[in-house]
Amino acid sequence: MRTFNSSSNILINGKLFPHGVTPVLSPSPFAKWFKIHSFWFEIFFVPAIKGCSFASHKHLNDHAMSKQVKYDFRDTVALVTGAAQGMGLATAKAFGEAGASVVLADVNIGAVQAAADEIIKNGGKAIAVKCDVANEQQVKAMIEKTVATFGKLDVAYNNAGINTLEIEIADLSRTDYDRIISINQNGVWFCMQYEIRQMLKQSSGVIVNCSSLAGFVGARGRAAYSASKYAVIGMTKSAALEYAARGIRVNAVCPGMFETPMADFITDGNKAVLKEMTKAAPMGRLGQPEEIADAVLWLCSDGSSYVTGEALWVDGGFLSQ
Ligand SMILES: NC(=O)c1ccc[n+]([C@@H]2O[C@H](COP(=O)([O-])OP(=O)(O)OC[C@H]3O[C@@H](n4cnc5c(N)ncnc54)[C@H](O)[C@@H]3O)[C@@H](O)[C@H]2O)c1
Repeated sequence: MRTFNSSSNILINGKLFPHGVTPVLSPSPFAKWFKIHSFWFEIFFVPAIKGCSFASHKHLNDHAMSKQVKYDFRDTVALVTGAAQGMGLATAKAFGEAGASVVLADVNIGAVQAAADEIIKNGGKAIAVKCDVANEQQVKAMIEKTVATFGKLDVAYNNAGINTLEIEIADLSRTDYDRIISINQNGVWFCMQYEIRQMLKQSSGVIVNCSSLAGFVGARGRAAYSASKYAVIGMTKSAALEYAARGIRVNAVCPGMFETPMADFITDGNKAVLKEMTKAAPMGRLGQPEEIADAVLWLCSDGSSYVTGEALWVDGGFLSQ
């Protein structure tokens, strides 16, 4: 088991490796046995029962869900916006499991309260905050509540975002355009402003913003969404330069197609469309919310201490095509 301590080192099977040393992992005898036997089982038996393509996708999904990496975020205060469902919820839970004090913020207070209660029930520390990230006063209050409750803010994942159904730019209404920009773009700006003001007082902090593949390439029928996600990358890189020498790192994650309520929304519940999108991904499957959580936690850990201004593709190879 690998553990990234948020303050320095890597712990593997009880042995501590100094930060910067990359240990070679040798599999246990059981792991070797299992690798050989599960390989033949999948090659000969599973395809016979369920069909070849299902078997290989199942293998990939199992691999995605069997986590090898554990993080240690004890003594760390972590804020996640848009934490009621999807990737925000998965990331908030991952921070909770890693020992962080978690602030779960969302417009949907019922859902974040339930998620915070769950973290507390499992022995963790968490609060739920009702916050519309497009409302500057509510963002200010969210940071004040974080500091009043836990005394500081160490890491923040600015994840809250919305999408629209497909509409060509000539038909896009001013109202829909403004709504997307106000949440996806202005929301990230407001959050960064108040987070960075607090982090400057501490001379430390890490921010991860949520962009998208649509922050690198155009998205047909989603011009406002794409514009907002390009903007997130621009703000991330600018802020990274501004605060690099003052102890604050700022990065972005750019998810490919992930299996969340948003994916259901943009495909309008049409499973055939979802299947086509799945086929377009080189890994032949959608991303799981926990796989974004892994990327965010790595970017917030000291495992990425020399990484800032990065816009990290987490897309199963999609943009490399
Ligand atoms: N799902 C994907 O395939 C995909 C791909 C690329 C990027 N993204 C981005 O990832 C992020 C999370 O996406 P998801 O798929 O988990 O979405 P989701 O719709 O499942 O969850 C988004 C969460 O954000 C919250 N939210 C919406 N508006 C808000 C606001 N104004 N203030 C506070 N909270 C608000 C919602 O209540 C919800 O809990 C978004 O920024 C999205 O644009 C998603």
